Amino acid sequence: MDWGMSNRMNRIFNPKDGRTVMLAIDHGYFLGPLSCLEDPRKTIEPLVPYIDSLMPTRGVLRNCVDPKLNLPIVLRVSGGNSIVGKDLSNEGITVSLEDAVRLNVSAVALSIYVGSEHEHQTLTNLAKLINEAQNYGIPVLAVTAVGKELDKRDARYLALSCRIAAELGAQIVKTYYCDDFEKVVKSCPVPVVIAGGPKANSELDVFEMAYNALACGAKGVDMGRNIWQSKSSVAMISSIQAIVHQGYTVKKALALFNGFKK
Ligand code: R5P
Repeated sequence: MDWGMSNRMNRIFNPKDGRTVMLAIDHGYFLGPLSCLEDPRKTIEPLVPYIDSLMPTRGVLRNCVDPKLNLPIVLRVSGGNSIVGKDLSNEGITVSLEDAVRLNVSAVALSIYVGSEHEHQTLTNLAKLINEAQNYGIPVLAVTAVGKELDKRDARYLALSCRIAAELGAQIVKTYYCDDFEKVVKSCPVPVVIAGGPKANSELDVFEMAYNALACGAKGVDMGRNIWQSKSSVAMISSIQAIVHQGYTVKKALALFNGFKK
């Protein structure tokens, strides 16, 4: 691996354990000002000490993230859709690699929609992005998106999507946790991180998801709503950080969360 590519990967994934706590705050690119992300600067600031990397859009990065922070950025570079539009899978590449370099990002992120009407378009978007990012030594994170079809998230479908992303050359794949998750990770030759998905019923569910994903071989989390939509977002992120980097069990993480809240 070229030095630049390797250095960027090592900035995102802590070299001590090869894992990452990535905070996803890119949702506004198709959801607008969703709950608890109305003012991204306020949402992000208290969580920064607990994360290894941040996944914003270009607009939020420029306007709401302090450039003095020494924080690896995984920049969302796909979009062109909206929650009220006809089809969430109809995405294009929205940021040039030149601008990504100007923003000093550590990786770029793009969604693919396998099995959707725009499967071909999103997969060729990914391939084009990888071709170009390779010239600059920038890793590409592929998000195996499902749009509104949340019930698609089973091991067979996610293994297919993750593997296709890796075969096209993505250096990192972000997907959802599911039953038999080991199958998804084992058949994907690049690091897999998990999204959190819509807000879960309890903190315990989120800790279990993170713990089980790591036990199945995931290299970290790239969570959003289950962190910053929590009333105790700092307690959430510090407990997730403890699971990812300090080997906390679910029980210990829950105790940490409850202690933090007090
Ligand atoms: C989709 O909106 C983005 O790719 C998010 O970054 C991703 O879904 C992770 O966020 P969450 O944990 O809220 O699902």
